[in-house]
Amino acid sequence: MDEVFAGLSLTVLGPGIKVICFWCRLRFGVAASSAAWGWLGPGSDAGLPSPKPAVLTLPPSVVVFTMQGLKIAIGGKGGVGKTTVCAVWAQLFAQDGFDVLAIDADPNANLALAFGIPTERVPAPLIQMKELIAERTGTTKDAPAAYFRLNPNVSDIPQKYWLKVDGVKLLVLGAITRAGAGCACPEGAFLKALLTHTILQRQELVLVDLAAGVESMGRASVQGIDALVVVVEPGGRSIETANNVAKMARDLGIKHVAAIANKITEAVQTDVIRSQLKDIPLLGSLGYSRSVQQVDIERKPATEADAEFVQGLRQAKNALVDLISPGLKKRR
Ligand SMILES: Nc1ncnc2c1ncn2[C@@H]1O[C@H](COP(=O)(O)OP(=O)(O)OP(=O)(O)O)[C@@H](O)[C@H]1O
Ligand SMILES: [Mg+2]
Repeated sequence: MDEVFAGLSLTVLGPGIKVICFWCRLRFGVAASSAAWGWLGPGSDAGLPSPKPAVLTLPPSVVVFTMQGLKIAIGGKGGVGKTTVCAVWAQLFAQDGFDVLAIDADPNANLALAFGIPTERVPAPLIQMKELIAERTGTTKDAPAAYFRLNPNVSDIPQKYWLKVDGVKLLVLGAITRAGAGCACPEGAFLKALLTHTILQRQELVLVDLAAGVESMGRASVQGIDALVVVVEPGGRSIETANNVAKMARDLGIKHVAAIANKITEAVQTDVIRSQLKDIPLLGSLGYSRSVQQVDIERKPATEADAEFVQGLRQAKNALVDLISPGLKKRR
C-alpha cells in the first residue's frame, strides 16, 4: 500500500443507533482503521451502551499520521556527533512506525557507515554524478556552463537512488566542497532543488545530516524544515557554533531549534552548555561512551552502541516531538 487515507464515516446500525468512526491508513503500510467511535443518539435494546454524547478518543496512530512529513535537520560543529545522532534517530523513528528518509548532505558523506553499511556498498554521493546533473540542469558534464537550469526537475531522483537499510531509506547527496560554489553552478542548483523538493514535497519523516559548521545554513538549503537540532559537545567553540547555527536557522524562519549535549563526561558540563545556549532548549544530554567509539571502529551500526546511549537518544527524540507538537500523545 502506498497511499494515505483518512476520514470520518458515519454508520447507521439501527433505529437511533449511529456509530461515528475515524479511520486512517498510513503511508508506511500500517492500517489503523475503526480507530475511534462514539454512540450518537439513544441506546438500543440489544445491550448497547446507554445514550452518550459522541466520544472521539484519537488513538496514538492518528498522531503518527499527523506527524508524517516532519522534516528535521541535524547540525553543529565538526565531530560533535551529528552523524551518530542522525543514524540512531533514523532507526528509532522507524521503530516508532514512521516512514523515514535519511539524507546525507555532508560533503564528507559518511552517514551510510553509521548505518553499518560496508564501504563497498556505500552509494556514491549524487553530487558526484556528473552526467545526471548535466542532464537535469541542461549542461554538458565536462565543460563549465554559463547557463543552466536553476530549478531542475528532480522529483524522480529520491526513489531511484535511495538505499533501503533496515526499513530506512538512505539518500547520499553529498555537498559541494569548492569555496563559494554553493549556488552559482549546476551542482549547486541540482543539490538545492533536490533538498527543497525533499523538504517541501515528500511525505516521509526526513532527517538531514548537515555539513559541519554554519555554511550549510548559509546556503539556505534547509529552508522549510520543521526543526533544526544542533549537537553540542562540552567546549566553547562547539557552543558558539551551536548558537550561530541556531541564529541562522531562526533568521531563515525555522520554527523549532533545539540542542543535544553529547560526549559529556561530568554532569556540570551539561549545566554549562545549558546556561550558554541562547534560548535553545536542550533535548537531552548523552555521556561520552566508549561503546559508541567501539561500534564505529568495528563498522557496526551506531544503534548497536550501549543501551544507555540509545535510550538517551530515544528520550531526546521524544522531547523533540513534544516540542514540535505540544499536547499530542505520541506513539512510543
Ligand atoms: N557520545 C559519544 N561518545 C563517544 N564517542 C562519540 C560519541 N558520539 C559520537 N562519538 C564519536 O565521535 C566521532 C564523531 O562522530 P560523528 O561522525 O557522529 O560526528 P559528526 O558531527 O557527524 O562529524 P563530522 O562533522 O565530521 O560530520 C565518531 O568517532 C563517533 O563514534
Ligand atoms: Mg558527520
